Amino acid sequence: MRDRLLAAEKVKAIAWRDGALHLLDQRALPHQETWLACTDAAAVAQAITSMVVRGAPVIGITAAYGLLLGARQRHAQGGDWLAALEQDFTVLAMARPTAVNLSWALNRMRERLERVKDHVDVLDLLEAEAAAIHESDREANLTMAQLGVDLIRRQQGNLQTVLTHCNTGALATGGFGTALGVIRGAFIEGMIERVYADETRPWLQGSRLTAWELANEGIPVTVNADSAAAHLMKTKGITWVIVGADRITANGDVANKIGTYQLAVTAMHHGVRFMVVAPSSTIDMNLASGEDIPIEERDGRELLEVGGVRVGAEVDAFNPVFDVTPADLIDVIVTEKGVVERPDAAKLAQLMCRKRLH
Ligand code: MRU
Repeated sequence: MRDRLLAAEKVKAIAWRDGALHLLDQRALPHQETWLACTDAAAVAQAITSMVVRGAPVIGITAAYGLLLGARQRHAQGGDWLAALEQDFTVLAMARPTAVNLSWALNRMRERLERVKDHVDVLDLLEAEAAAIHESDREANLTMAQLGVDLIRRQQGNLQTVLTHCNTGALATGGFGTALGVIRGAFIEGMIERVYADETRPWLQGSRLTAWELANEGIPVTVNADSAAAHLMKTKGITWVIVGADRITANGDVANKIGTYQLAVTAMHHGVRFMVVAPSSTIDMNLASGEDIPIEERDGRELLEVGGVRVGAEVDAFNPVFDVTPADLIDVIVTEKGVVERPDAAKLAQLMCRKRLH
């Protein structure tokens, strides 16, 4: 399974090359593959805000490289470069509010900087830290895929029909994916009959990105309107809903792409199991519950326009892009540190004390 999973990494969202961060513009996929080169932290922050790059884990990795770009630039300018770098920390931290991976990665860069700021090779050491953040996410994907596949195998024998939401694959991570990594692994193991991909309004991460990633590998995928989920659960024999996360709080509540909460409610009604797959960098033990998670609201035009053309009426639109699924609707959270069934505060605390499994 490992080699076939690693083959899915040929799709990459980001590349660090020749002192610049190259980002695959995900807004234009799947019809156009355009790469943008960023050479300073402000450009990286702008790319995150404008959805050139999206998905919690890869946002964190991108921010780490963005901070590295800032450090290289400020260092070259001389003077009190560490003080100047604070502006880059701030602009990157504010790029998007919900995915905690962003501040998690910036905190790691800050801790590293604190330790090596007087070192002659400070920039090389920061580069090594950004690369380590990237690599550890790849590794986490592998462990989570294995754990998720084991769960599916343990709980049900037959071929599975799964439903997923948004994009949690190679485009959203440093490897081949979180939820989509589990789905890929289960397919390789001959356990998946079909994947239903919610189209994921309004950015269409499901129909543009997830469907593209899966179809490229010959994994049977069908796109459905988000609002078809209950009907699908009732009529298509869905056995698992498998999704990613942008932030998991200390009690096991999960923020993820808008629409995830209603999937969890609907799954419980239909007896469909609900799995969340996310690296521990997505777990925010500083927040007690999902009520504390900042939920990003984007411009209402994203709902009222299609491809920049107004199709909706001339009214306001409310466009929260994440929601919070309460822990008691979740069957299992899969991380690289292990699996938490029926999550709660005690189990999450125990998990976070562990080292990673591999
Ligand atoms: O707005 P997006 O596309 O950044 O939202 C992404 C999601 O909600 C994903 O499900 C989440 O980040 C997990 S990605 C492994």
